[in-house]
Amino acid sequence: MHAESRQEVHSTKMVHMRIGILTSGGDAPGLNAVIRGAVLKGDQLYGQEFVGFKSGWRGVVEEDIVPLGRHEVKGISKQGGTILGTSRTNPFDGNGGPDRIREVMERNEIESIIAIGGEGTLAAAKRLSDEGLEIVGVPKTIDNDISATDYTFGFDTAVQIATDSMDRLRTTGDSHGRCMIAEVMGRHVGWIALHSGMAAGAHAILIPEQKTSMEQIIKWVTSAHDRGRSPLVVVSEGFSLDTMDDPHHERGLDAFGRPRLGGIGEMLAPLIESHTGIETRATTLGHIQRGGTPTSYDRVLATRLGMAVLELARGKQWGQMVALSGTDIVTVPFEAALGKLKTVPEERFSEAAVLFG
Ligand code: F6P
Repeated sequence: MHAESRQEVHSTKMVHMRIGILTSGGDAPGLNAVIRGAVLKGDQLYGQEFVGFKSGWRGVVEEDIVPLGRHEVKGISKQGGTILGTSRTNPFDGNGGPDRIREVMERNEIESIIAIGGEGTLAAAKRLSDEGLEIVGVPKTIDNDISATDYTFGFDTAVQIATDSMDRLRTTGDSHGRCMIAEVMGRHVGWIALHSGMAAGAHAILIPEQKTSMEQIIKWVTSAHDRGRSPLVVVSEGFSLDTMDDPHHERGLDAFGRPRLGGIGEMLAPLIESHTGIETRATTLGHIQRGGTPTSYDRVLATRLGMAVLELARGKQWGQMVALSGTDIVTVPFEAALGKLKTVPEERFSEAAVLFG
């Protein structure tokens, strides 16, 4: 290191500024790697101090704050979940709101917040930063539906888990000559279904962006069966048949008042069986897709995002978040992530559909 840059590192260590980190919304493999990336780089280069808010915005509003230093982030990038906990708390509900958050930040000498979360979290972060609060963000969702970024961490892990599960479903399906249905996550978009279905060689992939008729599904299943294959149908939880107005739901509402999805696979199984005469079984992969060790791709992406968002906070670029563009980590405003979901384009679906049946 040159004497000049050594001097620079030394002088930046003098800056006293605590950064608070929170993880909010559904968890995603890689959250811990983001936290570690930010904390280690901050500590190493700038002598930066951090604290963690427990369970997302709840920890901010209720002042539930924990120390977050090198010790706390040791070895966590391979760990699933989030060491800080998460919740779907809206920071504007109850005693929350900008004044309360400002008060908590001041009392705890926290000069900025890094919010790691999906659309709901980023929307709240934008509202708060519009009110003058010092907030930067990292996009997160296993669904990969945030428009401002090419990929979100957690998606690759979910696809890998789903693909492994489908490989297993295929061997048991082959043994029994059954049609197997694998239901994957994807509330509004079919990225997990498309990628895992392609990887596993599915005979049909059903996604929320493409309403499909029962006749078409039966054609795909029958054609695979007629060639002596045991059909594999992959379906996103948010998929609807062309005869349905809304995605199938039977589990009440989540904390945001949205229907809890899941069960479309079980709904399709008897329909496929009765129309084709092929014995059919459905498996809902559910939260298994969000659990456990992140893939190396997700660890690297998450670590890079964590290191980059630290620079946003230090550069006081409030209202901005980090994102992936190609292989580069870039900076975009919160609003770039809001309003419009990144859906599976028609051409990506048709490309995969050539191999269906
Ligand atoms: O948004 C990510 C996601 O995994 C969706 O695919 C799914 O509908 C939802 O979260 C499930 O959320 P919860 O953990 O609240 O059941």
